[in-house]
Amino acid sequence: MTSVDIQIRTAPSASTCSPALADDPWAIDTRPGYGPGASQADTIPGTAPRQGGLPEAYREASTDELHARIRAAKDALGDRVVVLGHFYQRDEVIQHADAVGDSFQLARAARQHPEAEAIVFCGVHFMAETADMLSGPEQAVILPNLAAGCSMADMADLDSVESCWEELTELYGTEPDADGRVPVVPVTYMNSSAALKAFCGEHGGIVCTSSNAATVLTWAFERGQRVLFFPDQHLGRNTAKAMGVPVEAMPMWNPRKVLGGNTEEDLAAARVILWHGFCSVHKRFTVDQIDRARAEHPNVRVLVHPECPMPVVDAADGSGSTDYLVKAIAAATEPTTFAIGTEINLVNRLANQYPQHTIFCLDPVVCPCSTMYRIHPGYLAWVLERLVAGEVVNRITVDERTAGHARVALERMLAATP
Ligand code: 13P
Ligand code: SF4
Repeated sequence: MTSVDIQIRTAPSASTCSPALADDPWAIDTRPGYGPGASQADTIPGTAPRQGGLPEAYREASTDELHARIRAAKDALGDRVVVLGHFYQRDEVIQHADAVGDSFQLARAARQHPEAEAIVFCGVHFMAETADMLSGPEQAVILPNLAAGCSMADMADLDSVESCWEELTELYGTEPDADGRVPVVPVTYMNSSAALKAFCGEHGGIVCTSSNAATVLTWAFERGQRVLFFPDQHLGRNTAKAMGVPVEAMPMWNPRKVLGGNTEEDLAAARVILWHGFCSVHKRFTVDQIDRARAEHPNVRVLVHPECPMPVVDAADGSGSTDYLVKAIAAATEPTTFAIGTEINLVNRLANQYPQHTIFCLDPVVCPCSTMYRIHPGYLAWVLERLVAGEVVNRITVDERTAGHARVALERMLAATP
């Protein structure tokens, strides 16, 4: 069975965003981009790790054989390995995960298994980096396919953020105001490199995820007059708007322009400066899709992820992290129709899990996150069997200096409570 059979089986009437989805990830990994899928226009930065070829035995194996090999390897390893899976992973991978969750839950899970010699992270690169920083020094964090990056995370690099910071420091100075609040607090979304988390740790800043962004912004506003939020403009805008920050007080920072493309007056009035980044999957959702869902299903509940553009979040009935979406559906006691604005693997899983409800994706075109898609059972079988043989492949490590500063920002997040 090819990957596209798996993707489309649960949504037979849907079309796909790219015919290349019929290929397995090892075919895509030879091409110079993240595509196909929702991120097909995004290019892997030169600095991103690249996956080498997957041995032929795994490329040629049938789905049943791969599952049997994964189970056997996990049995042989026992407590020595723990497999973590993000909600956006395909079911063929999720069925082997010991813990499934959103990025916040998986960051916590990474430190809850000190007994495991290896943490196999079925998610994307920034999640594995975070797991490495939060787990013990002897534990190896393994990303089954190194090409599983995140196109949004790649939209903010350390050099550009440092240049932005220099310009802002020149403009605002460094002196706190009468209440002791510094001019700017940097806040990075979990979907960012360890280097940017370290930048936040070093500059009085913090990390957030989509499940705690409001709590984190409250933390930041207690300490700063304004926030520099990167890389996701939509999560920053949606969260700050819900907290009462006017949209006019949220200029966008384009790293290719002087002062990010803003005037000094705009920046003087800013409460949140939003980086020019976005998720290619979530930016596909539109208000038109919501209008159509409401016209076709008068009692539909529309729930979306806060990485969606602001008009979409405003038009929805609710928004929140992947865990929020999962819990909102689990909490529905009466048969309900849900239109969901998030990645297709999670939507399809929820539709299968709750047959009493009608659950569909707002976007009629099947467009998985092309980077999450890189984790295929073939890669999972390969890394696990190498572990059984005593070899650690695809280990993700963050150097100790970066990790030290990044941990400061991560610990601030883990300690921040509403
Ligand atoms: P969550 O924080 O909701 O898991 O989202 C992670 C992600 O990559 C969403 O695109
Ligand atoms: Fe990155 Fe978007 Fe994929 Fe999440 S869904 S990993 S933000 S590209």
